[in-house]
Amino acid sequence: MITVIGSLNMDLAVQMNVFPTQGETVLGELFKTIPGGKGANQAVAAARLGSQVTMVGCVGEDSFGDTMRSILQQEQVNVDAVNKVSVPTGIANILVHENDNRIIVVPGANYELKPFHIDLVKEQIKNSQMVIMQLEIPVETTEYALKMCKAANVPVLFNPAPATNFKKEWMDYISYITPNETECSQLFGEDFEQLLKQYPNKMIITLGSDGARFYDGEHHIHVPGYMTTAVDTTGAGDTFNGALAHALVDGQSLDEAVYFANIAGSLSVEKFGAQGGMPTLNAVYARLGGFEE
Ligand code: RIB
Repeated sequence: MITVIGSLNMDLAVQMNVFPTQGETVLGELFKTIPGGKGANQAVAAARLGSQVTMVGCVGEDSFGDTMRSILQQEQVNVDAVNKVSVPTGIANILVHENDNRIIVVPGANYELKPFHIDLVKEQIKNSQMVIMQLEIPVETTEYALKMCKAANVPVLFNPAPATNFKKEWMDYISYITPNETECSQLFGEDFEQLLKQYPNKMIITLGSDGARFYDGEHHIHVPGYMTTAVDTTGAGDTFNGALAHALVDGQSLDEAVYFANIAGSLSVEKFGAQGGMPTLNAVYARLGGFEE
């Protein structure tokens, strides 16, 4: 069983042929409101692969919040700990252009997730095989949850995104950390070789379409990505994290799990929207076996 403690956003996504420059107005190609938020995305990614997942977070008492909850339920994610609060549901304004995206998040209800909400799910956390967290909820809540997981001996997969407010002392509470290259440079500096050696089998740096790398205690391991044609890369990192947690809980070794997560990530970018392309287990196996589902 996996517990995700994190954000739920309604993504307001616009696909465009050209990003506007300052003061410029351009025409977009497509607009969609799609469920997102790094927490909810990672919950859906793991659930679609077959994990039993509980989401812990906050939405507003509004239609976006209701939609977020019901979509998660449709994905078989337990939403008993998705609280309704009197602040609007978080949103993300997403501009999608070719293989690139630009995202502005307005946290809204996500910042109402407080330590007392974590206390309410203490038993759930204790019974989890893994807890997944990101950085779209308040720092005090993140720290509180990390300490609770440590005390209960529950492994934490931590995705330090967006790379703000991270505290290095949290590394003692984290079992796996998955920065991308930009987040890694911002939080830890540029010397990846040395850094990975400092955190063997713990730090996994994601490299976009190039896959991911980590240090296994003896060697630097580069797990290559699966080449595909991307429609929308939004949520690829979230798919990687949800799939990594699923595979680790399933008992796969770290290199197997990273390989599995890369394949899941490659499938996720083939459709529009953060959750649109997140694969089922069959779809991942189909690609692993080199044939289509
Ligand atoms: O990682 C992608 C997600 O980041 C989007 O769904 C958006 O809501 C932001 O949280």
